Amino acid sequence: MFSLKPPLFLLLTVVCHGVSKNTLVCGGFVGEVDGGNGVLPVRVERFVYETGSDGENTSMILAEKRTRRKDPRNDFKYYNGGWNISDDHYKSSVLYTAAPLFGIAAIWFVGFGISLLLICCCYCCCKRTPYGYSRTAYALSLAFLSLFTIAAIVGCVVLYTGQGKFHNSTRDTLDFVVRQSKDTIYNLNNVLDILATSKGIGVDQVSLPSSLKNNIDRVDEMVSKAARSLDFETRKNEKYIKDVLNSVRLALIIVAAVMLLVALLGFLLSIFGLQVLVYILVVLGWILVTATFILCGIFLTLHNVMGDTCVAMDEWFQNPTAHTALDDILPCIDNATAQETLYESKDVTYQLVDMVNKIIQNVANIDPPPFPGLLSYNQSGPSVPTLCNPLNADKTDRKCQAGELDASNAAQAWKAYVCQVSAKNICTNVGRLTPKMYDQMSAAANVSSGLEHYGPFLAGLMDCSFVRVTFIRVHEDHCPELTKYSKWVYIGLAMVSAAVMLSLVLWVLYARERRHRKYTKLAVAESEQSSFATETEWK
Ligand SMILES: *[C@@H]1O[C@H](CO)[C@@H](O)[C@H](O)[C@H]1NC(C)=O
Ligand SMILES: *[C@@H]1O[C@H](CO)[C@@H](O)[C@H](O)[C@H]1NC(C)=O
Ligand SMILES: *[C@@H]1O[C@H](CO)[C@@H](O)[C@H](O)[C@H]1NC(C)=O
Ligand SMILES: *[C@@H]1O[C@H](CO)[C@@H](O)[C@H](O)[C@H]1NC(C)=O
Ligand SMILES: *[C@@H]1O[C@H](CO)[C@@H](O)[C@H](O)[C@H]1NC(C)=O
Repeated sequence: MFSLKPPLFLLLTVVCHGVSKNTLVCGGFVGEVDGGNGVLPVRVERFVYETGSDGENTSMILAEKRTRRKDPRNDFKYYNGGWNISDDHYKSSVLYTAAPLFGIAAIWFVGFGISLLLICCCYCCCKRTPYGYSRTAYALSLAFLSLFTIAAIVGCVVLYTGQGKFHNSTRDTLDFVVRQSKDTIYNLNNVLDILATSKGIGVDQVSLPSSLKNNIDRVDEMVSKAARSLDFETRKNEKYIKDVLNSVRLALIIVAAVMLLVALLGFLLSIFGLQVLVYILVVLGWILVTATFILCGIFLTLHNVMGDTCVAMDEWFQNPTAHTALDDILPCIDNATAQETLYESKDVTYQLVDMVNKIIQNVANIDPPPFPGLLSYNQSGPSVPTLCNPLNADKTDRKCQAGELDASNAAQAWKAYVCQVSAKNICTNVGRLTPKMYDQMSAAANVSSGLEHYGPFLAGLMDCSFVRVTFIRVHEDHCPELTKYSKWVYIGLAMVSAAVMLSLVLWVLYARERRHRKYTKLAVAESEQSSFATETEWK
């Protein structure tokens, strides 16, 4: 449907990267665009709000004002769809912003080519007629030649500085996004550890309801899949984007250096009147200038897309409930579904703690055991403290009571209540928990504390609030520099190409003036010499 294929889009926005047809990495979050194949406990389809909660139409156009541009693919009517990288009309309208530069490149290529051809013909075939040399024209062409050479040098400096700063800010942005991504992977792996522990749960006769176990399995599958692909894509994309950025940097440095060299060399060669070399350089410069104008157009487009994306990211952050083009390419689920997932994870927490507490109350702490056998294993000694359940039965927050243990340090506290067991699993010394019970109860506590801790993180991944936060930080911390320095680069490119273009014309003009000057001087000198000769003869 959409193809966010590298390299251009990524280079432009640096934030989002389409990996394959339906996978996208955005701010470090990988998702499948058409999920919902039963991996998640809840629907992972994109939730399209037709109407908002207050009944108002919340489908929203991103960066609408900024992206109102003429669209050559639609009879030059204004494009109104807003930022939408999947839309060809958006692409053509943004590319059209660089049309003047591409136009100049074309006109220059054809126009100067024809002029060169004419000059060449004249040079070879036309009879050279002596004509007068104008001191003003000579001085003017020299003055303008110097001026444009200086302008070219300034352009090269702007370009070189701009690309350096542009490179740094894109790299910083990339580093930031990759760091976010790695943090996420780290958290996901922690969640996986917890879920692995939960596999062992099932304390003796009491065990988790099977529906709960199925849920845990599904969450485990989903999380490990997400962690694996996020890790893989992050590494791949980081390397890929770094390569692209380095190539762009290198290309711009080469352009700046070559144009500087051409401008200086052309200046010197025309001053010293090395005409053949000047003409070779003119031909070379003619092609280089065309290429530089095209490059400048590409950078202008890039600058515009980058600006659009920055505005779009901001507006997307400001309007979390609206349906936008960014939701089309991000695998977000709506807030309500994410909250539902969070509720489910709370339910698991609640049931786990409840289960552990029931075992403590009804088995371990019973003294003396009501009947020998099953629940009696010679338990004795002080009562085992129960876990603090962070939730009430209706999943509202509950305050811990004095004497209740926090799930995160329960395992440590329970160690004191473990007894040694005989081969028949009967306590042989004072204690209320067999080692097996202890292991399983600590696993349960571990899982519930982990879920409590990572539940909001998982919900944030699902409703993309994590991506929103990444975007707003990119918008605030990185966008100003990115747009500023991409502007420097295209302004530098424009200056260099315009200055070298005018210099080329002046090399030709100056060479001509210089030839005439030499010719005239020679003629004057000859006539002076001959008059001197006649004078001496006279004497
Ligand atoms: C609301 O959005 C739907 C498409 O989602 C569109 O067809 C309709 O015209 C919109 N209504 C208004 C009042 O904007
Ligand atoms: C973005 O463009 C695509 C392709 O034209 C279109 O299907 C999609 O609805 C657009 N999204 C928005 C939010 O306008
Ligand atoms: C999602 O909904 C919850 C309550 O249902 C609310 O507290 C939270 O701010 C919402 N988040 C977003 C991003 O809208
Ligand atoms: C939970 O289990 C993991 C993996 O077995 C372990 O590394 C961690 O220390 C445990 N945490 C607690 C609080 O017991
Ligand atoms: C039961 O536990 C007590 C300590 O509380 C111990 O003295 C006794 O030997 C244990 N009985 C058996 C059969 O192991």
